[in-house]
Amino acid sequence: MIMTKKELGLRIPGPTPLPPEVTLAMSRPMINHRGAEFRNLWREALAGLQEVFQTDNECIILAGSGTAAMEAAVANLVEPGTPVLVVVGGKFGQRWADLTKAYKAATFELQVPWGEGVSTEALREAIAAHRPEVVFLTHNESSTGVRNDIASLCAVCREAGCLTVVDAVSSLGGAEFYTDRWGVDITVTGSQKCLMLPPGLSFLAVSAAAWQRIKKINSPRYYFDLERYRQANKIGEAPFTPAVSLVFGLVESLRLIRSEGLERSWQRHALLQQMTRRGLEALHLELLVEEKWASPTVTAVKSPPGIDVEKWRKEVASRTGVVLSGGQDHLKGRIFRVGHMGYIVPLEILATLKAIETTLRAFGYEAAGPGSGSAASASASASAAVRTAEEVWLNWPSMF
Ligand SMILES: Cc1ncc(COP(=O)(O)O)c(C=O)c1O
Repeated sequence: MIMTKKELGLRIPGPTPLPPEVTLAMSRPMINHRGAEFRNLWREALAGLQEVFQTDNECIILAGSGTAAMEAAVANLVEPGTPVLVVVGGKFGQRWADLTKAYKAATFELQVPWGEGVSTEALREAIAAHRPEVVFLTHNESSTGVRNDIASLCAVCREAGCLTVVDAVSSLGGAEFYTDRWGVDITVTGSQKCLMLPPGLSFLAVSAAAWQRIKKINSPRYYFDLERYRQANKIGEAPFTPAVSLVFGLVESLRLIRSEGLERSWQRHALLQQMTRRGLEALHLELLVEEKWASPTVTAVKSPPGIDVEKWRKEVASRTGVVLSGGQDHLKGRIFRVGHMGYIVPLEILATLKAIETTLRAFGYEAAGPGSGSAASASASASAAVRTAEEVWLNWPSMF
């Protein structure tokens, strides 16, 4: 027998909670993936993705987690010896570097302290010094909760004639992102974050300039050969057997995003971010990332002095049902992370803060007075920065 337990608070940076409509859609019986019904769904999904990516470029749907789309971008743009520049400010920037090295690119890593974004000056200098053909960037570094200024960074890359590839795995749908307006050549994302689906699908939006390069690049590839997907898209199909159930869910989640409105989803995430940050500060906790780099989808918090944060996180989960993430690599034990992306409503942030406050107190950490985190969080919704977003909160129940 499958035991189901109400998951009260999956507050990790993916996978994220699922809307019931998505869960239901995924339980539909199988259909022929080469039939008319599936072709209509595939075309609807491609159009919906263009909206979320804010692009007229071709979108590609892969069966595979976010890393699959990252590898596909590398496999199609890089061959042995290709000079590439990778900005590394956390675990996922490092993943770009590891992938490009696996494909034998001449990889230069522009290292940025974990918890900070990259400046346009540093990028410009690195491009001038290393003359890359392709630059790999991370929009939202989930390991630290940093959002990079992709609009400005891509402008620098364009001036220098480099192609740009951007990991928007933990931000697309939840943070402002304009593939075409910013001139991103390949944007990649995954299903299990702001798109409110289980893990298992990943997506790319590929520019005309990227397609031109792909034609010329000779690296070995088969499942990740993007041209196969482009050709199959023309007839509304995937080149290989697609993850049919996840595609049912994708069509539904894209409908939900459309009914909420993409900009309103961005505003809702901005509100969740402000509520989280102001609430945590009111508990006398120190945030890892300063305001100008703060991610709208995940917030990293320095471990409170004297608290074994890994032990404490287990306690939070078992006593309150709120599941938080720990730090990764050298930040393990030094931070915890609160995910606030996807199918999350403002009330859930208040509950999360309450869970953090009460369990910290039980661990002997004298956070501020009872309720102060939730109170600061609630009043954050009225601050100037999120005034528009307050309306989002008030109208929340009518959105989905
Ligand atoms: C920013 C970012 N990039 C890439 C990935 C990799 O995605 P996946 O774990 O789905 O392969 C993640 C996953 O957490 C991520 O947060």
